[in-house]
Amino acid sequence: MTLKRIGVLTSGGDAPGMNAAIRAIVLGANHHGIEAIGFMYGYNGLINDEFVLLTNSTVNNIIHRGGTILKSARCKEMQTEEGINQATSTLLKHKIDALIVIGGDGSFKGLLALQKEWNGQVIGVPGTIDNDVDKTDYTIGYSTALNTAIDAIDKIRDTADAFERIFIVEVMGRNSGFLAFNVGIASGAEQVLSFENFTVDDSEKKLHSLASDIQRVIKKRNGSYIIVIAENLWEGGANNLAQQLKVKAGIDCTACILGHIQRGGSPVAKDRILATKMGVAAIQAVISGKTSVMTGECNNEVSLFDLEASTLHYKKVNQNIIDAQQNILAINAQF
Ligand code: F6P
Repeated sequence: MTLKRIGVLTSGGDAPGMNAAIRAIVLGANHHGIEAIGFMYGYNGLINDEFVLLTNSTVNNIIHRGGTILKSARCKEMQTEEGINQATSTLLKHKIDALIVIGGDGSFKGLLALQKEWNGQVIGVPGTIDNDVDKTDYTIGYSTALNTAIDAIDKIRDTADAFERIFIVEVMGRNSGFLAFNVGIASGAEQVLSFENFTVDDSEKKLHSLASDIQRVIKKRNGSYIIVIAENLWEGGANNLAQQLKVKAGIDCTACILGHIQRGGSPVAKDRILATKMGVAAIQAVISGKTSVMTGECNNEVSLFDLEASTLHYKKVNQNIIDAQQNILAINAQF
């Protein structure tokens, strides 16, 4: 069978570099005489049959832009039989041979569900700032988000230093600490609180040790003190931790939630290049008839991996960096 038409969509949280991936997919497809159509608003575009034709000129001047020209959304309907059926009939109606989804593990679960009903090829391209997708060292958007958060904390550091204040900075990452841990390391945070070095049952104990560490350090040296904390880790987040340190230990802290600033902005070189390599690899996967695969880059080499295996959450933050933070870099390890 000769391939004629592919569908592309971006799903879940947008990530810087998604546009670069769309561009590479469209240029790759058109180069091989394949028509590319983009479904809008994530899987909603499939369910509601909302699409645009993607020609080379539609992807001009987008490599440097954050967000996604196809828009994105989370789509609850894809978790229902009705949603899957509607998406399938749109794919059949448009005679789509392969569907490429740029997104995170939640989006890939939708793709796997679709594959059970639909005979076409399904290809995942990992795009999320969280980096919580297995079978790839990095996801598209992670490096930019890392740099954005570091840049923000460097600025907070100036104020924290000028006033000799304590800041608790909350970073995104959903339920994993790739962002939190690495942002903490790269910004020289005095403490990192993340899923890798903390469990909820430890809250009370952690609060006391944190308070006594802060008091001990402040007695020994003046200056700023920054705690980087992963979102969804501490009940009530950074604001509640700041409040608890005030009430229980009389320590004044300022909470700062970086939030969606980490999702936007022009992608850094690493994300543009990764997205481009993966977009080209996705088209090669389509041409070679692969299905239920994800493009992943391990040790600088892009290959195809089993799509389901990419959603298992075995990938962990590097243990050496966790140990170094705990035993050498954290301020309580220094005094
Ligand atoms: O998955 C990307 C992400 O930004 C996570 O880091 C965060 O937990 C979540 O999305 C926020 O989602 P929303 O924008 O829907 O609130």
